Amino acid sequence: MNTRRTFLKNGVAVTAGLAMSTMSCSGNRKEQKKRSKKPKVISTWNHGIPANEAAWEILSNQGTALDAAEKGVMVVEADPKSTSVGYGGLPDRDGNVTLDACIMDHLGNAGSVSFLQSIKHPISVARKVMEETPHVMLVGDGALEFALSQGFQKEELLTEESKKQWEKWKVESEYMPAINSENHDTIGMICQDQDGNLSGSCTTSGAAYKMYGRVGDSPIIGAGLYVDNDHGAAVATGMGELMLKTLGSFLVVELIRQGASAQEACEAAIQRIVDKLDYKSFQVGYLAMDKAGNTGAYAIHPGFNYAEMIDGNNQLIDSRSFIK
Ligand code: GLY
Repeated sequence: MNTRRTFLKNGVAVTAGLAMSTMSCSGNRKEQKKRSKKPKVISTWNHGIPANEAAWEILSNQGTALDAAEKGVMVVEADPKSTSVGYGGLPDRDGNVTLDACIMDHLGNAGSVSFLQSIKHPISVARKVMEETPHVMLVGDGALEFALSQGFQKEELLTEESKKQWEKWKVESEYMPAINSENHDTIGMICQDQDGNLSGSCTTSGAAYKMYGRVGDSPIIGAGLYVDNDHGAAVATGMGELMLKTLGSFLVVELIRQGASAQEACEAAIQRIVDKLDYKSFQVGYLAMDKAGNTGAYAIHPGFNYAEMIDGNNQLIDSRSFIK
């Protein structure tokens, strides 16, 4: 049995200071373990509020965490005002909207699509990859061909508004991803259902004005999303290159498995980026839930927030951050 003591003894807590500071905000561990299991959903950024509502509709009607995690993020994929996810997503530098998404269930099954064009709901294609193929990931034309074979329809995803923003960008053509871009980015969602099972989803149009063919963390199992139903789940948002280099969502869940709280694990995964990479100009946020339903969040910069829904109450919470 892993305990907080073995977590610290094994040296995975980055510093004693981190452990001390997170103890106070994590609360009493015995208290946390006593909490009853109730359906719960958390998701990244302001757009997590409507996404949680859709997920809650399923969870509160005895639905599964997997169904909730898919249906929840579909709300944001379909929203043209959300310019970092699905329909209306900002294009790459050549004007192509290319989408990445992945999903994981409580049995450890995973499905993913990457560099997918012309399909409004990549998360549902990712689920089909998980359920209907012997594979985990399909990309580009192969993913599109598979989606069409499953009955998905091709649609124009570049809206007039996103096209206007891209045309404005082309004047300078400078690739400078904005931190906390208008308070949204990838939507990552973690759901726990009435049986205590965990599932997660993650979907994005990726970095605006990226190179043609660029893929970030969001479709990569272990980078953008990881679920271990025995211990916890984590999702990531922000500059995908940093999570790819540290396999951040897997790291968060692995630290939970070794005895860290969800909060401590998110802080340690951000610390790993700070220790190893050039981090100052980029935002990364992690959001996690352990098997007991305790949540954690941490980011490099201020400005990352997430939506948490339990007992029908949906609220936005500001994450703490490494840079104050
Ligand atoms: N986190 C989204 C991306 O970097 O593509």
